[in-house]
Amino acid sequence: MNKFVLVTGAAKRIGAAISHHLAAEGWSVLIHYNSSNEEALKLAAELKANNPEQEFPTIKCDLSNMQEVMHLFEKPVIKEMELTALINNASIFTPGNIEDITPDFLSQQMGVNFQAPLFLMQAFKKHSGNGNIINMLDTNVVKNMETHAAYLLAKKNLEALTQMAALAWAPSIRVNGISPGPVLPPPGEDQEHLKKVINNTPLKRQVGTTEIAQTVSFLLNNPSITGQIIFCDSGAHLK
Ligand SMILES: NC(=O)c1ccc[n+]([C@@H]2O[C@H](COP(=O)([O-])OP(=O)(O)OC[C@H]3O[C@@H](n4cnc5c(N)ncnc54)[C@H](OP(=O)(O)O)[C@@H]3O)[C@@H](O)[C@H]2O)c1
Repeated sequence: MNKFVLVTGAAKRIGAAISHHLAAEGWSVLIHYNSSNEEALKLAAELKANNPEQEFPTIKCDLSNMQEVMHLFEKPVIKEMELTALINNASIFTPGNIEDITPDFLSQQMGVNFQAPLFLMQAFKKHSGNGNIINMLDTNVVKNMETHAAYLLAKKNLEALTQMAALAWAPSIRVNGISPGPVLPPPGEDQEHLKKVINNTPLKRQVGTTEIAQTVSFLLNNPSITGQIIFCDSGAHLK
């Protein structure tokens, strides 16, 4: 039987890179998407062409809608699945300082970046009983970046939850986090935007999507690691 990993926000960018990497290592991937229907289907077709023995179903869910999130694991595609890993990768990165935060804005940022991962972790535990969870965090969780206050508050909460769940759910479920540095410019921004951030890292290096995917694979394959946050960020967290 195929072993499945659910990757949220898998249709594009880092999520797609993780999906390609894990598929090449023999995983079947449940490709979650919200607005990127076409890209999700294209990714599924590519993965199937390269790995005909494995399965690559897609599943849509708006992670800002907690009703949808709470019922995701009841969908037929997932109900009978042998799901052994969950990668909480989907995220929304919207600028705004502390003084810009409104109740609706906070709900949206906390919803997608913290509440949805939490409820998916819960559902995964209930559904699978054992396996692996990896939460995608951000190098800034150890800092106080002012420009994306609500986003960062959500990621800091997700970091704390990663360690809390790692302890609470051991020995059956391992829970780890990855904190990327500059990998890709935010959607809508160009490479120029990222240049300054890259030049400010100790290694002066853009983090490759493959390097993030390799870190995911490393965590999935190392049975002695739980509660760990790996900074794959060209050293950015040190400054
Ligand atoms: N890019 C970087 O350099 C960087 C740096 C630090 C941390 N990270 C973290 O690494 C992870 C991946 O980064 P990324 O840049 O590849 O992410 P991204 O492109 O900004 O977002 C990934 C996916 O999240 C999904 N998403 C957003 N809102 C959603 C909603 N309401 N419901 C369901 N899905 C939703 C989108 O899916 P659809 O397109 O299907 O709507 C999107 O394609 C994120 O957790 C991010 O915080 C990235």
